[in-house]
Amino acid sequence: MTTVVTGGAGFIGSHLCEALLDEGRSVVCLDNLGSGRHENVTQFEDRTEFTFLRGDVRNDVIPQLERVGVSPPDVRRIYHLASRASPVDFDDYPMEILETNGFGTRNVLEFAADVGASVVYASTSEVYGNPDVHPQPLDYNGNVNFRGERACYDESKRFGETLCSLYEGKRDVDVRTVRIFNTYGPRMRPDDGRVVPTFVRQALDGADLTVYGDGTQTRSFMYIDDLIRGLRRMMDRSGLAGEVVNLGHTNEITINRLAEVVADLVDRNIDVVHEALPEDDPQRRQPDLSHTRELLDWNPTTSLETGLDRTIAHFHEAEVDA
Ligand SMILES: NC(=O)c1ccc[n+]([C@@H]2O[C@H](COP(=O)([O-])OP(=O)(O)OC[C@H]3O[C@@H](n4cnc5c(N)ncnc54)[C@H](O)[C@@H]3O)[C@@H](O)[C@H]2O)c1
Repeated sequence: MTTVVTGGAGFIGSHLCEALLDEGRSVVCLDNLGSGRHENVTQFEDRTEFTFLRGDVRNDVIPQLERVGVSPPDVRRIYHLASRASPVDFDDYPMEILETNGFGTRNVLEFAADVGASVVYASTSEVYGNPDVHPQPLDYNGNVNFRGERACYDESKRFGETLCSLYEGKRDVDVRTVRIFNTYGPRMRPDDGRVVPTFVRQALDGADLTVYGDGTQTRSFMYIDDLIRGLRRMMDRSGLAGEVVNLGHTNEITINRLAEVVADLVDRNIDVVHEALPEDDPQRRQPDLSHTRELLDWNPTTSLETGLDRTIAHFHEAEVDA
């Protein structure tokens, strides 16, 4: 039985590949290395159960698998994570992001329908946009500007969810959707524009921390290990076809407070500089986890300080090695 992880060379995907391999599963990582890095998975390449496939979900999946000798009917599970997710990419790669979450998700679901594989689809808290309901429950339909700077991502993820519900209803595909809230940890790209790697890199370099707007906007940050546990539970539990859950931490903090925590952990006096808030930046983020707890018996367990400590150590090592 083979598991395909699309986007497997990215931040989340590489941790997922690692967890699956550690459990003895056979894993194919399908990634176009657009925002992912080959070095995230090179450490797995001497394991016989691991196959790296440089490919693109915007193309048909079956010929790509056959090219690397994987038999398509052996694929029983697909974690569909492929998509650039960094705000700095929204301006540079909007069409690629739209096509990946649109055509790409359709190709993955079509493949799953052909071979009868189960799918976990990585959606995002961004489907809620700048929310006027707080915390965000599953039945909140969101407040997304579908023509704004972030629309290529937010709206295409929503479209991806529509595809999932159609393939579940019309083609009987066992597809489960996770709406992932801000996640951080080792292997994030230091330059990817998301707040945790930006703050950590700046703090380690002794630079000012860049805060957009007045810094009173909130986020709830989840450490990668908690997410991986949630993703796997969503796949492993039986009877969840068609289900949707939020996965995120409920510890909501302001960006100003995050800056203080990072500065404390690197033990430096650090100043903050404020820059203009990007268009449609959400003001508040916190998942309503009631359905997640009921369905998966899952809660995030890693504290912000512990997760940030591990992340800072990883970034520090990477800087020393560079
Ligand atoms: N990290 C978060 O906080 C977060 C929050 C919500 C949702 N998500 C979702 O989780 C998934 C993974 O995010 P991440 O943070 O690891 O980002 P990432 O950029 O590190 O990983 C995405 C991976 O997908 C690959 N990819 C992109 N387009 C592709 C294509 N057309 N074909 C094949 N591969 C392609 C990239 O090369 C990269 O390796 C994404 O779908 C993202 O939307 C992440």
